[in-house]
Amino acid sequence: MKYTIKEVKNSFLSFFEKNNHKIISGSSIIPENDDSLLFINAGMAPIKKVFTGEAVPQSKRMCNLQHCISTNDIDSIGDRHHLSSFCMLGSWSVGDYFKHDAIRFATNLLVNELKIPKEKLYATVFSGDEARGIPADEESITHWKAVGFADNHIIKCGFEDNFWRMGDGEGPCGPCTEVFFDTGDKYSKSYEETGVFDDKKRYIEIWNVGVFMQYLQTADGKYLPLPFNSVDTGSGIERLVMTLNGLDSVYETEVYAPIIDFVRNNCAAPNDVSLRIIADHLKTSVLILNAGVLPSNVGRGYVLRRLLRRAMRHIREVQGNANLLAEVTQKTIENLIACDIAPDWNFTHAQIVDAVLAESQKFEKLLAQGIKVFADFVSKPQNIVDGFLAPELVFKLYDTFGFPFEMTRELAEEKGLKVDENGFNELFAKHREASKGNTGKVFKCGLAEETEETTRLHTATHLLHAGLKKVLGTHVNQKGSNITPERLRFDFNFERKMLPEEIKAVEDYVNEIIAAAVPVVREEMTVEEAKAAGAIGLFESRYGDKVSVFTIGGFSKEICGGPHVENTKDLGTFKIQKEESSSAGVRRIKAVLK
Ligand code: ALA
Repeated sequence: MKYTIKEVKNSFLSFFEKNNHKIISGSSIIPENDDSLLFINAGMAPIKKVFTGEAVPQSKRMCNLQHCISTNDIDSIGDRHHLSSFCMLGSWSVGDYFKHDAIRFATNLLVNELKIPKEKLYATVFSGDEARGIPADEESITHWKAVGFADNHIIKCGFEDNFWRMGDGEGPCGPCTEVFFDTGDKYSKSYEETGVFDDKKRYIEIWNVGVFMQYLQTADGKYLPLPFNSVDTGSGIERLVMTLNGLDSVYETEVYAPIIDFVRNNCAAPNDVSLRIIADHLKTSVLILNAGVLPSNVGRGYVLRRLLRRAMRHIREVQGNANLLAEVTQKTIENLIACDIAPDWNFTHAQIVDAVLAESQKFEKLLAQGIKVFADFVSKPQNIVDGFLAPELVFKLYDTFGFPFEMTRELAEEKGLKVDENGFNELFAKHREASKGNTGKVFKCGLAEETEETTRLHTATHLLHAGLKKVLGTHVNQKGSNITPERLRFDFNFERKMLPEEIKAVEDYVNEIIAAAVPVVREEMTVEEAKAAGAIGLFESRYGDKVSVFTIGGFSKEICGGPHVENTKDLGTFKIQKEESSSAGVRRIKAVLK
């Protein structure tokens, strides 16, 4: 039986819909009002607050498909499983059903709907962790047995494998149970025969069928009970489809194979790893560009720049035909649509291709120069010490010639040389201190990339927020914010479409404050002091923590970590371009400064 991405997606969503789950739309890959993540990395990340009771879910039962990005393992991309972006199928019970139904649903979907023989499936369960005071998940074992799993198809695993949390910080978490698929004898001997569960090659995890959210992990590593129990499930659709179709790699699925074939047919010197890197990186780049981030040297923009430039370097490596970069970007967009996993497009396809080409022009220039300088450096024996290229030269390539550190490392490795990352980092830190540069700034309040334009738009966002409260009522509050160099986007609670005269009144309000040349003043105070002073904003910091409060005359006072202009006169003219629905009870404004 052959499974397609579209069929598996539809089977998953319609199965849960049939079982009273609401299909909710996937969110942007840029987290909104959440500084803890650079990119959304799991289906539950955009809705994490519903599990702690801080936000109200759209429904107690939900499911969706969510694009996720994870670039921690960028150097492993090109092997069998690693991808920098993937789609997660997810389902949730928020304070509704728990372990019994989660395991029943999972078995029904896998065995009855997707027709996977039960003998091929194995479940792992949490074995408990005494030191942390968390008991074993005996209940799940009972439920797996009840749905017909044999004893030797249920495997107990510890904290690292079967206790799911978002990371080391505060967040909802709990023991989880995962389903693995047996890909057969071609990789290794069976678990039954050896007692070893080879979860790297033979048994492939296809679905985390339940994180049983019972605890809140605190920042100091304690596990406190949550007010109610929930279920969070997640399955990477590419890996699921790969496994079900008996393929050897995620790159053989229809999400990547047509792109890889296209590049192979349009280059002179293909090699498998480069082809995979090109397909993976351009797909992720398309998603990031579509979310409104442009290549830059900091934060998300830097991740994007790194992905694009690595893809470009590998296109050189395989000796791609002229125009290959543009063509493969276009094909990537078309293929996301063909696989039925395209995001909502915020930009036209041509705009995305143009953004890739603009970066390519910048890169070509410095690449040609950097490769020459690198060759010159390594040709001189005095520059190589114990197999290492001198750190000063690695830094010079970066600082003077704009050559990315990772590229120097890759070129060096190809020549059998090493680079000293610590040495580079020390020079980098020293240089930053000396020039008081702003590299590595933390991103706040929906700001995707820090430039003069985004800083101006950020201040304009505060004025817009104040204007909306003035014109529509003080109950109006920010629900989300996202800024690119071109525009601001602002989500707020309001029950209906705004009238044209209301939009005009908000614009006039903002433009009057701009015309009045009001200074923007930053002060530090505790959250409690900020509240007492009447500041608005997200009161998420802990008691006693200092926050920044930005005051714009008597018009706006807001807690915020972001960069701002010093005076509203620097903003130009404010214009609302669009006012539309974002979700139930939430409106969205897109606005620009001219
Ligand atoms: N959030 C869980 C995971 O990512 C389902 O595995």
